[in-house]
This record gives sequence, C-alpha cells and structure tokens, in this order.
Amino acid sequence: MLTIAIANQKGGVGKTTTAINIATAMAATGWRTLLIDMDPQGNASTGLGIGNAARAVSSYDLLVDEVPLASAIVPTSIPRLEIVPATVDLSGAEVELVALEGRTHRLARALAGHSGHELCFIDCPPSLGLLTLNALCAANTLLVPLQCEFFALEGLSQLLQTVDQVQQRFNPDLGIIGVALTMHDRRNRLTDQVSEDVRECLGKLVFETVIPRNVRLSEAPSHGLPALVYDQHCSGSRAYMALARELIGRFPAERQAA
Ligand SMILES: Nc1ncnc2c1ncn2[C@@H]1O[C@H](COP(=O)(O)OP(=O)(O)O)[C@@H](O)[C@H]1O
Ligand SMILES: [Mg+2]
Repeated sequence: MLTIAIANQKGGVGKTTTAINIATAMAATGWRTLLIDMDPQGNASTGLGIGNAARAVSSYDLLVDEVPLASAIVPTSIPRLEIVPATVDLSGAEVELVALEGRTHRLARALAGHSGHELCFIDCPPSLGLLTLNALCAANTLLVPLQCEFFALEGLSQLLQTVDQVQQRFNPDLGIIGVALTMHDRRNRLTDQVSEDVRECLGKLVFETVIPRNVRLSEAPSHGLPALVYDQHCSGSRAYMALARELIGRFPAERQAA
C-alpha cells in the first residue's frame, strides 16, 4: 500500500477538500483506496456522508486502543473508497498519546502489513502535533496543499523542517510527492503572483495542475458527497481529476497502474 499524508499545519488551505476529491478520483480510476481521517473535526468523514452511527470505531480507537484496522474501516458511497472516520475524541488523543508506548508510530503499526487497499490517504489536522507526526511516520510520502495567498510560503518552511526531522529520526524514506496550489482565483492578480513565487521557490515540486476557487467544491460536503460526484463537470472536479493523473505520474514506476 502506498500511503500519502495530506499535510499542512495551516487550517483552511484545502487539505480535506483535496483528501476527499483526490481519494475519490483515484478510486474512480480503479485504485482500492483508503482514507484515514486524522482530524478531530472529522470533516473528511462528514464530507463523505459518514454519520455518527458509522463512527462507532474511529481513528481514535486505532491510535489509542490499538483496535485492528479492519474493525475501523467503513464503506463510503463511492465504489472502491473506504474510510477510517474521525470523532471529536481524537482531540484528546493528542494529549493521551504522550503517555503511550511508541507514541509516534501508533498509526504506522496499525497500517503495517495491510493489503486490502493499494492506496491510502491520510487527512491531517491543522497542527504539527502527535497526530500529524503519526501520519508522517506512517506515510511513504507527503502531498502538501498550499493556498494561493500572501503568507502561503511562510508556514511551509516549518512544515519542511518537520519533514526533515521525521526523516532523520523516524522515517528516512519519507518523500514529498508534490505541492498542490489551491483556491486559485484567476480574477485576483495577487494569487497569480503567489503561484509564480511558489513555483520559483519550489520548482518541479509544485504540481502543474492548480485547483481553482470553485463554489461547487465548498458546497459538496454539505451534501455528504465529493465534488466529483456532486458535480463532476465543475471546474473544481476537473482540476482534481487532472491532479490525480499528475499524481499517478509521480508514483514509482511499478505503481503507475491500479
Ligand atoms: N478550491 C476551493 N474553492 C472553494 N472553496 C474551497 C476550495 N478548497 C477548499 N474550500 C473551502 O475552504 C474551506 C477550507 O477547506 P478545507 O479543505 O476544509 O481546508 P483544511 O482541511 O486545510 O482546513 C472549506 O469550507 C472548503 O469547502
Ligand atoms: Mg481539514
């Protein structure tokens, strides 16, 4: 299983929107895909229509109580896409984990040897605490959504530093598969300037595909659907399909097909 953490410690940059729609795009392309919701806000779970009743076992139980992964996996309405949902309990896990043995590797251990899915995305919370650390230790690589706004690059150096530390201490093979520019507004010249600056700074790490600001992307979660199902022809859905194609192109050669 190829595991991709979707991380950026800034809130509201499009992590969850990217997680839901890229996971849906990959499932639609034939990949057996698992999404792990690691944000106590549970937006990825809600956005995929997972109600409270279906969250009896959650990512909290995986991390804190070490329940088997299989017991935490819930189907979604999308064929080939399953999820480990999150509940608010997870906000306590950040503190509870501190006292637990192997606190940075609880998620990695939960995923070890799992072969039911080819691809796993982890939707991270907006912090660099133990939840995100668990995601970075469990992941093969990182996808970083970056909002096209003036301070976009500011938080990025902190994230890159964290990735560096994780590589040195825990997970030497952790890579960064790419940075995705999100919420691009073509009527706003500042966002163009920002994306130019980001490309100048990060070069090929930045995906060609830019996710536009698109109201359909923000409406879809209230219907419990990925935008790709809610309105597959909107500009946001088309962008996430393009991003998925680009992402596959960056997979190791032996993994390019589902
Ligand atoms: N490309 C986009 N166009 C319009 N709205 C977006 C877009 N991406 C995200 N949003 C909205 O912005 C808010 C924050 O996005 P979200 O994906 O939840 O960010 P994060 O998970 O990083 O906190 C949400 O209300 C979401 O619906
Ligand atoms: Mg989120």
